[in-house]
Amino acid sequence: MKRRRTKTTRTSTGASRSSRSAAVRSPKRRSSPAQTEPAPKRWWRRGGSKIHRHGLFAAHDIPKGTLVIEYVGHRLTKAQGWDRAVSWQEKAHGTSKGAVYVFELNKRYDIDGNVPWNVARHINHSCEPNCEPEIKRGHIWIVALRDIAAGDELTYDYGYDFDLWDEHPCRCGTASCLGYIVGKQHRWRLRRLLEKKKLLKKRPLAA
Ligand SMILES: C[S@@+](CC[C@H](N)C(=O)[O-])C[C@H]1O[C@@H](n2cnc3c(N)ncnc32)[C@H](O)[C@@H]1O
Ligand SMILES: [Zn+2]
Repeated sequence: MKRRRTKTTRTSTGASRSSRSAAVRSPKRRSSPAQTEPAPKRWWRRGGSKIHRHGLFAAHDIPKGTLVIEYVGHRLTKAQGWDRAVSWQEKAHGTSKGAVYVFELNKRYDIDGNVPWNVARHINHSCEPNCEPEIKRGHIWIVALRDIAAGDELTYDYGYDFDLWDEHPCRCGTASCLGYIVGKQHRWRLRRLLEKKKLLKKRPLAA
């Protein structure tokens, strides 16, 4: 697989986002301690997903702002993180296996979450997610974006860059899904491109 040059830009939250496309994901960074602390109960259960293979589901009603599960794994330097992300993508190419497990922790380190003890690796992408990853005191947490009902699948926006859009078909099935996984901020460009190529599937209006 051809490697792309890495350039780093700043998001509005101050987190750096790498343009390694789908390879490395940057969670938001928040310093506010106002959010709910992790409760001593397990909020999630694992199960078969309609989106892709396994997913995580709410085991109870989850209030907005809950730290649902920590995304854990091996801490890697940037160079190691990049190599690891490329390697996962190469292994997954042409299979239905997951490829994206490397998160950007800070300017120096990434986290490779493709380890058996990282249950959060099973969370699938949705174009209308109910969770988001956040960095809190050097840890990556998956945080509820809204109240989530017991049984709902937990999802977050993988935030992929635009350039490899056609390599990542999306099966989240939500009303705003364009059929490919790209970060929310890139969806207007993808919509325009799909319209131009006449590839945008017309959806029936909801009853
Ligand atoms: C980190 S894994 C997610 C968990 C995975 N479903 C499992 O069984 O372990 C990421 C991979 O799941 C798949 N995936 C996640 N969200 C998806 C979606 N909305 N549509 C299609 N595939 C998705 C893709 O293959 C992606 O590379
Ligand atoms: Zn989607």
